[in-house]
Amino acid sequence: MNDAIRFTSTREKIDPVRFDEAVLQGFAPGGGLFVPDRLPQFSKADLNQMKELSYPDLCVAVLSNFIDPGIIPPKDLETLVRKSFEGFGHPDILPLVPCPTDSSIRIMELFHGPTLSFKDIAMGFLVRVMDYLLAREGRHLNIILATTGDTGPAAAHAAAGLSTIDCWPLFPKGMITPEQEIQMTGLTAPNIHPVGVRNCPDGGDDLDRVVLDLFRDRDLKTRLNLSSVNSINWCRVMVQSVHYFYAYFRTCEQVGDPIVFSVPSGAFGNLFAGYLAREMGLPVHRFICSVNANQTLNRAFTSGLFKHGDLITTCSSAIDIVIPYNFWRFLYFATGRDTAKISRWMDEFRASGQVQLDAPTREAITKGFQSVSVTDRLTLATIKELYGAGPSYLLDPHGAVALAGASKEDGSMPVVCLATAHPAKFPDIITRALAGPGLPPEATHPSLVPGSDINLDVCDLGNLEQYLINSIGSVSGR
Ligand SMILES: Cc1ncc(COP(=O)(O)O)c(C=O)c1O
Repeated sequence: MNDAIRFTSTREKIDPVRFDEAVLQGFAPGGGLFVPDRLPQFSKADLNQMKELSYPDLCVAVLSNFIDPGIIPPKDLETLVRKSFEGFGHPDILPLVPCPTDSSIRIMELFHGPTLSFKDIAMGFLVRVMDYLLAREGRHLNIILATTGDTGPAAAHAAAGLSTIDCWPLFPKGMITPEQEIQMTGLTAPNIHPVGVRNCPDGGDDLDRVVLDLFRDRDLKTRLNLSSVNSINWCRVMVQSVHYFYAYFRTCEQVGDPIVFSVPSGAFGNLFAGYLAREMGLPVHRFICSVNANQTLNRAFTSGLFKHGDLITTCSSAIDIVIPYNFWRFLYFATGRDTAKISRWMDEFRASGQVQLDAPTREAITKGFQSVSVTDRLTLATIKELYGAGPSYLLDPHGAVALAGASKEDGSMPVVCLATAHPAKFPDIITRALAGPGLPPEATHPSLVPGSDINLDVCDLGNLEQYLINSIGSVSGR
């Protein structure tokens, strides 16, 4: 029990907390992000032992290192993991398929969960864990989250009907697809409260800012029992680290062989999870941070200037993000856990929108990382090329950004591109890319039936904070 991993904050020295506290609090006090006080280390021998495990067994093997058995006993952890993946629509849960246009590339399909994006992978587990811990303590939480279209449906689906949680997915109205919107607003469970927010020039980033402000107010956070399930929550990135292990074992013949991952990136949660896997001992040669025209991450990697510009609307809308908050976790590790520096930089970034990273930090973040910015034209051309290939394969626009990001690889080592959403969530983009008559069957899914918003509140960005305080207050008092 004494040597269990504890969780501290990226931006100030706090008394380390247990796993359950980190998960239920979401944000660390003062708006920092929780990080483990150390990472488990897997030796080559350990990795060889894990190599043949199924994906759920691998989850248990990795996650049990972070979770004190006194908090979640091993049997319960196993049950929670298994239940999290029961609803997935593929027997392998996260299948890897060959890329028809390049034999050194494999596409990892992360979208077979109930709401058809990679967010289901960690969200199902996180919400189950929250419910498990809250039920045991007789507590209730209001979880608020900002979404660019996929986190909201995943959270709403996972939390629907639970008595321990009320869930408030906030989305920029008009900036996600109708399919994504209906996945939230078509749910009738009384504990799900989607809010479409108008006038968000920076899309989901505007909503992140409001959520962060609410969490920085410690009294409000306590009074309203607030928590978050965005990848701010440590549990999300922790679970996402496992799919890198799984992809590695299914792709590389020998433990120790190099591999490259290309990851379509927005808030940097998924890619930070890959970094964690490498820090735990997975022999990843390089990560490609594949972004669209929104350049915050690309600029940081290529010039060391961590600066957000104005949001550009693209065809890979879920990664239209200019404030990648998980980059702070990455910088925290890259600076050797220098909380004072992170705190100063976070304040500077908040005040001026930019931070010039120092030379040692630049060197640390570029070690085994490369970034590529992919234009919409190339994203659409990639979808078309793959669909026209033999055999034909339909990628969603985010998977296409990952594949286009890997186009300069020379075939000397295997590359895994993460396909993070099902194409059926983006029918208009697929139609544009293929420029053919009608929508191909691969761009449809039986769970995505057209419908109308039956459970939706709408408000303006300027009123959002007050709206949430009032609405959550009235739900809590019911
Ligand atoms: C389909 C899809 N791909 C990629 C991403 C980017 O993931 P992350 O925000 O963890 O970088 C997101 C979410 O933001 C997404 O919904």
